Amino acid sequence: MPISFDEKTRCFSLACGDFSYVIRLAAGRWPLHAHWGAPVRRVHDDLLSRLSPYTDETFSLNELPLDRLPQECPVYGTADYREGMLGVRHADGTAALDLQMEGCRTYAGRPELPGLPCAGGEGAETLELTLKDALSGLRVLLNYTLYADCGILARSARIQNDGTAVETITRALSCCVDFEGSGFRFLTLSGSWARERDITLRPLAPGQQGTASLRGSSSHQGSPFMAFLSPDASETQGEVYGMALCYSGNYLASADVDQDGNTRAMLGIHPEGFSWRLSPGESFCTPEAYLCYAPDGLAGMSRRFHRFIRSRITRGPWANAPRPILINNWEGTYFGFDEEKLLSIAAAAKETGVDLFVLDDGWFGRRNDDHSSLGDWTDDLIKLPHGLSGLSDRIHALGMKFGLWVEPEMISPDSDLCRAHPDWCVHAGAYPRTESRFQLVLDLTRGEVRDAVVESICAALTRGRVDYVKWDMNRDITQAGSAALPPERMGEFFHRYMLGLYDILSRVTARFPDVLFESCAGGGGRYDLGMMCYMPQAWTSDNTDAWERCRIQYSTSLLFPPCCMGAHVSAVPNHQTGRITPFETRAAVAMSGTYGYELDPARLAPEELRLMRSLNERVRAWQDVLLYGDFLRLLSPFEGTDCAFMSVSPDRRRAVFTCVFALARPNRKPGLLRLRGLDPALNYRLEDGRVFGGDELLSRGLPLSPVSGDFGSLQFFLTAEPPLQA
Ligand code: DGJ
Repeated sequence: MPISFDEKTRCFSLACGDFSYVIRLAAGRWPLHAHWGAPVRRVHDDLLSRLSPYTDETFSLNELPLDRLPQECPVYGTADYREGMLGVRHADGTAALDLQMEGCRTYAGRPELPGLPCAGGEGAETLELTLKDALSGLRVLLNYTLYADCGILARSARIQNDGTAVETITRALSCCVDFEGSGFRFLTLSGSWARERDITLRPLAPGQQGTASLRGSSSHQGSPFMAFLSPDASETQGEVYGMALCYSGNYLASADVDQDGNTRAMLGIHPEGFSWRLSPGESFCTPEAYLCYAPDGLAGMSRRFHRFIRSRITRGPWANAPRPILINNWEGTYFGFDEEKLLSIAAAAKETGVDLFVLDDGWFGRRNDDHSSLGDWTDDLIKLPHGLSGLSDRIHALGMKFGLWVEPEMISPDSDLCRAHPDWCVHAGAYPRTESRFQLVLDLTRGEVRDAVVESICAALTRGRVDYVKWDMNRDITQAGSAALPPERMGEFFHRYMLGLYDILSRVTARFPDVLFESCAGGGGRYDLGMMCYMPQAWTSDNTDAWERCRIQYSTSLLFPPCCMGAHVSAVPNHQTGRITPFETRAAVAMSGTYGYELDPARLAPEELRLMRSLNERVRAWQDVLLYGDFLRLLSPFEGTDCAFMSVSPDRRRAVFTCVFALARPNRKPGLLRLRGLDPALNYRLEDGRVFGGDELLSRGLPLSPVSGDFGSLQFFLTAEPPLQA
């Protein structure tokens, strides 16, 4: 039974082959956390012994030493002095809560989270615990949804006002896990624009630590994800507890080590500045958090998350399909293009086998640089005399698909839209409106703004008969506020912005069900599971330097599979770093994502164009393995000087191995690198004709000959063949 209740121990157990998650009911009324980890058949009373002498049914909440007990839904204001998962302010201004179990149910499928992105419900089973605060009439429904086939547990909470007075939610995190002890290493991702998602690994220390965003997006600077590693955990062994949030706005991922050395982990909407008024009869749902226990190291965590994302998060016809090889004109032309230039890029790329031409920023209004026109989604007839429609016809006539860049959430002060609706931007009364990249953010909390965005963007996509959309977002939110929200609701702004965005995304993607959408936020500024529910791939970073991409894609792969990661070959010297890397290396790195180009083919040498052609053929032949196989990290660029990874097909008969070397060293001796994921009983043929036993590759390793020059790479394509006769 995946979800069960043991009357004797009063424990709920959610179990699959990979883990058990156990909740004990103290005195039949308070859900305490009893276990999350390797499967256990039964949990003994050691937890309750901490309650001693409170083990009878008669004690009340104020007698419980809550401060020292692991809880499922802690609230501040009781005898637990740690930060809680939920908080409210009652009509009289006080904040106490006495949440007690009222009931529970299990059901097939998953809870509704209206307006929020979340995982699909196929094959899921849910345990719902209902807690009630008798004095206010507030109910809290704790949802635990088990995805047994992926080893993932989803958690969320619904707060319902079943009382008679208005309540204000001041804190609504998605989950709390009170771990026994603090002997973990704490992994978070942090960075900045073009340096997204560096791996940070540190021992836990007493007090609070974590990662957060207050930028109105999940941000370049962090990621709504964290992991707790046992002391012996590595890539391939040891226990790892991963937690990821399905949300694209302000978040908090925190670990708090308390007086007893125990760790409270919480994940959800950041409470800073957040409040939500709940009238009688209304309810509020938190975003969903996904918990993954892996007994087999970071690789085990990633494998489970990758499967889950591919089977439950990404959806639509492109989710598991071959993706088009694209060429995007951004780094090739920036704003300086006209129709003839675009057609020449597309035609040259088509010659090499590229499938899709993407027209980036600068096709609308009077946008010759980034100072104007966001919001005016009308064709620039000077650059495109035949409009989007004419360009699209010509691209399609080349036998290519046509893609378009848009940045629908933004408004330039210098735009007809802003002149017509000066209060449609996010702003705080008369305070100065901070511009970033010379633009403001549209107030998506307002229905009429959302309708206008949907209509203007859908009109452009229809006019251009687009096959692909790059949905960009290039600034954070400042002076948060809406001209349409009453003062008592202004604390709802950031979350209402996200709900508004999700509303737009669901409407636009539903209108164009066959279009491939790629999310982008100045590169990887909103690289999260929430966006991935609408768009199966995301531009991983504006940094297209191959060596830098090794780091960014390596860390991104902790959570996301290659099919989610936009990765392109760009020109050298690289526009972000000035670094020169070999074409083959740039291609090898881009192949571990959704492959494409970001350059002007007219500036390539004939031999580079020939190389492009053969690389495109190779991508097409191996894309199923590269995008949808098991992705395995072999050498970390965060730990050593080189980076290696491989992808293995589900039947283990095909694999792609890639190693990128940093700086060249003289007199380097050939080395061996152990591969993973292969079948030891099979023999594997490399494209150069060499044949290795899987057993040898796994336990002795693949010989790596030295490459000359900086940032060289080795890439091998392995195909199993029948066992050699002894
Ligand atoms: C930021 C994106 O990440 C780039 O790829 C490009 O689309 C620019 N915006 C265009 O303004």
